[in-house]
Amino acid sequence: MGRSCNLLFVLVVFILLHTSLSSTVLNISTDEAVLLAYKSHISYFDPNNILTTHWSSSRLVCNWIGITCSSRHHRVSALDISNMQLYGTIPPYLENLSFLVSISIDNNSFHGEFPKELAYLQRLKLISVRRNNFTSAIPTFLSLLPNLRIVHLQSNQFFRGNPVFPF
Ligand SMILES: *[C@@H]1O[C@H](CO)[C@@H](O)[C@H](O)[C@H]1NC(C)=O
Ligand SMILES: *[C@@H]1O[C@H](CO)[C@@H](O)[C@H](O)[C@H]1NC(C)=O
Ligand SMILES: *[C@@H]1O[C@H](CO)[C@@H](O)[C@H](O)[C@H]1NC(C)=O
Ligand SMILES: *[C@@H]1O[C@H](CO)[C@@H](O)[C@H](O)[C@H]1NC(C)=O
Repeated sequence: MGRSCNLLFVLVVFILLHTSLSSTVLNISTDEAVLLAYKSHISYFDPNNILTTHWSSSRLVCNWIGITCSSRHHRVSALDISNMQLYGTIPPYLENLSFLVSISIDNNSFHGEFPKELAYLQRLKLISVRRNNFTSAIPTFLSLLPNLRIVHLQSNQFFRGNPVFPF
C-alpha cells in the first residue's frame, strides 16, 4: 500500500508540474500548430484530399473536418479522423492538445508505438483506435487517466508486455 501511495504521489506531482509549465503557453493557436504538424507527419492516401483541403490555417481550426472545440475553453476537445485511409504514427506532441476529451482514429493504418505522453491528457474520456496496426505493448498507462471511460483497442497487434508507466 505504501508503495502505491508513493507512486500516486509522484504521479500527481509530475502532472501538476507538467501542467503548470505548459498551461501558461498553450492556447487555440498552439492546438492549430500541433494539428498542422500532425498533418504533415501523416502521409496518406487521400483520394478526396480531405485533410489537405480542410486542415489549413486559412480556416479556423475549430471548423476543420474531424475537429471539435470546447466552446467554454475555446480549445480542441475532440479529434475524429476515423475511416480516412490515413497512414502514420501518433507523435508524442499530441500531448499539447491539453483539452482533448476524445480521440477516434478507427480504421486507418496507424502503426508503431502508442506514445506514453498521452498520459498527460488528463481530460480524456474516450480513446478508440480499432482496426489499425499498432504493434506495441498494450498501453497500460491509460489506466492512469482519471476520466477515461471508453477504450477500444481491438484489431491491432498490441501484445501483453510489462506494464509501461510514463514517469
Ligand atoms: C496564444 O498564445 C501566444 C503566446 O504564447 C500568443 O502570441 C497568441 O496570440 C495566443 N493566441 C490566442 C488565440 O490567444
Ligand atoms: C474503413 O474505411 C474505408 C475507407 O474509408 C471504408 O471504405 C470502410 O467501409 C471502412 N470500414 C469500416 C468497417 O468502417
Ligand atoms: C509539444 O510537446 C512537445 C513534447 O512532446 C514539446 O517539445 C513541444 O515544444 C510542444 N509543442 C507545442 C507547439 O506546444
Ligand atoms: C499492417 O501491416 C501489415 C504488414 O506490416 C500490412 O500487410 C497490413 O496491410 C497492415 N494493415 C493495415 C490495416 O494497415
